[in-house]
Amino acid sequence: MLMLNVVMKKLAKLESHRKPTQSRLLPRRDAFGAQRFCFLHFYFFLSLFAYARVHGLTYNASMRLIREIRCYPSYGAQGVTNSWAGTSDRADLGAYRVLRAVVDGPVDPRTGYLCDIKEIDRMLRAVVAPALRGVPHDVHSLTQALAAAFPAAARQCPVPAALLAIELHVSPHTRLAIDKGGSGMMRLTQSFEFSAAHRLFSTELSDAENRRLFGKCSNPNGHGHNYVLEVTVCGTHGADKGTVTDVGQVDRVVLERVIEPFDHKNLNLECPEFAQLNPSVENIARVIWDRLDGAFTGCRLASVRVWETPKTCAEYTGDDERKTDPK
Ligand code: NI
Repeated sequence: MLMLNVVMKKLAKLESHRKPTQSRLLPRRDAFGAQRFCFLHFYFFLSLFAYARVHGLTYNASMRLIREIRCYPSYGAQGVTNSWAGTSDRADLGAYRVLRAVVDGPVDPRTGYLCDIKEIDRMLRAVVAPALRGVPHDVHSLTQALAAAFPAAARQCPVPAALLAIELHVSPHTRLAIDKGGSGMMRLTQSFEFSAAHRLFSTELSDAENRRLFGKCSNPNGHGHNYVLEVTVCGTHGADKGTVTDVGQVDRVVLERVIEPFDHKNLNLECPEFAQLNPSVENIARVIWDRLDGAFTGCRLASVRVWETPKTCAEYTGDDERKTDPK
């Protein structure tokens, strides 16, 4: 605003200075007038934009937010709880579900909120949880129910949030997801565990550099981790197409191609990929991807996530040019 005032004063000064020559220099006065007009508009809108930014009237960056509810769909509203320590008056045990909504949108700078998460809870409880009531406990039926509920859930998503995905955790090891815009597409994620030893060491670095970078992880005799592996496949869930309903297939392929070769092994010495390759968690994720890519029927590998510790994981989603289509 200060700059605008300074510019306007300057222009006024110039204008008064030029007034006596107006009649003789009409064309130049017109040109000067047009220039001033442009300057004024430019600084007016610049000032308006600056004011809006300072006072938080604009905020276009998009943010992703994930909100989870826990529920017993069989018991309706009374079977809903959002706390591990919560209680309800349901009469008996029922199928326990964890539902997540993934939304994105701009953050309101006045509140710091993308949206009111209570509204997301309400949407999940009013639309998605009831859609699961009485649904058989198989992948096909559950994903069909989620897909059917998605449009209504998206409509009831609190403005300005846009629903990107609905996730259903059917057990601590298995989750299903329906994505926005992925008509007929779904994701299935299975978790696995394996224990393995490794030594972090790069032949490209000196011994001193290896010690500095990898520390105790470069111990010549190795050390171990309890790795958690999350494998996500995606495909169609339509009844007449190849489906991602065969959880057993995912189990069999991962057990055969990853768990058996890696579990209770020294990765550097017993897995050929790591004979020369440093078995960092990043490289382990990449190697597992290569072992699994193209191995599934009716679905495609979507991501491989490897947790080395509860605090560190690497996720690999493949080289876009090499992604394999479902068989
Ligand atoms: Ni390690």
